[in-house]
Amino acid sequence: MAIEPAQTTHDEPEHTLPDDGGNGDGERTEYAGVLRFYHLAKHHEWQVRDMPWGDIPPIPETTKGSPQRKARRKDVWRSVITQQYQADALAVEMAGQLLSLAPHHEAKLYYSTMVQDESRHTEAWLKLIGEVGGTAERDPYLDKMAKYVLEADTLEEKVFLMQVFYERLIIPRFRLIARSSRGTILEDLCNRLTIDDGIHHGAGMAYERVLLQSASKKVKSKLIQAANLMLPTFVDHALWRPKERAWIGSAMRSRDIARLRAELDDGVRLASSLGLDVSEVELPFH
Ligand SMILES: [Fe+2]
Ligand SMILES: [Fe+2]
Repeated sequence: MAIEPAQTTHDEPEHTLPDDGGNGDGERTEYAGVLRFYHLAKHHEWQVRDMPWGDIPPIPETTKGSPQRKARRKDVWRSVITQQYQADALAVEMAGQLLSLAPHHEAKLYYSTMVQDESRHTEAWLKLIGEVGGTAERDPYLDKMAKYVLEADTLEEKVFLMQVFYERLIIPRFRLIARSSRGTILEDLCNRLTIDDGIHHGAGMAYERVLLQSASKKVKSKLIQAANLMLPTFVDHALWRPKERAWIGSAMRSRDIARLRAELDDGVRLASSLGLDVSEVELPFH
């Protein structure tokens, strides 16, 4: 995906430094929250080689049923892994963009860790894909959502769409996958990603709060417009079923819709907690 460097609406210098000359320990209280997540991310850093490769099965093993049934179940897991791999590979691009666009020193320090995190996540998924026999179908809506974020005009929109909204919603999904894949590499990875994306979301909330303090009314209302533009694609993404999982059928659909509604409400609550005027949000399904 080709990325045009987006324009930011900040009137600030290209790179603002705290008083300590930029060693990261300086007092610049409004960015202390962002800096805290930099230190937290460093503290929780891990390596793909730390995972128990070879000691436990990569995905849940099916011993029962016909060979067809076993193959079908394996396809479901391959499909689950493919979507997460796709999301993390796109996250590398988004995190890289945030690192280059964020003008504040503390935020740059933080994003340097997020680029490494997303890249390490991609590495782990690639390794897992190798163990389960390759990728499955890509989710076209996830590609479309990433394009919205990458092509958004302002830093405020990018941080909101990716870190405040999406990274918050992905956490319960990792928990769900972990619960259904106990004792596997997949569970181990999902548990690590739950922690990492918790940090990514927290850092996004902290930074967005600072950004919005000095943002104009126009920037704020453009942010809501950007969210409105992306929401229908988010709905398509949440309800999309690849062919490997199409047989799971419509029983899941009503549960998916209920979960989706709760997730959208959650997003609105987060936006409102950042002081955004959410009366203009157009929620599908409501
Ligand atoms: Fe990630
Ligand atoms: Fe993330």
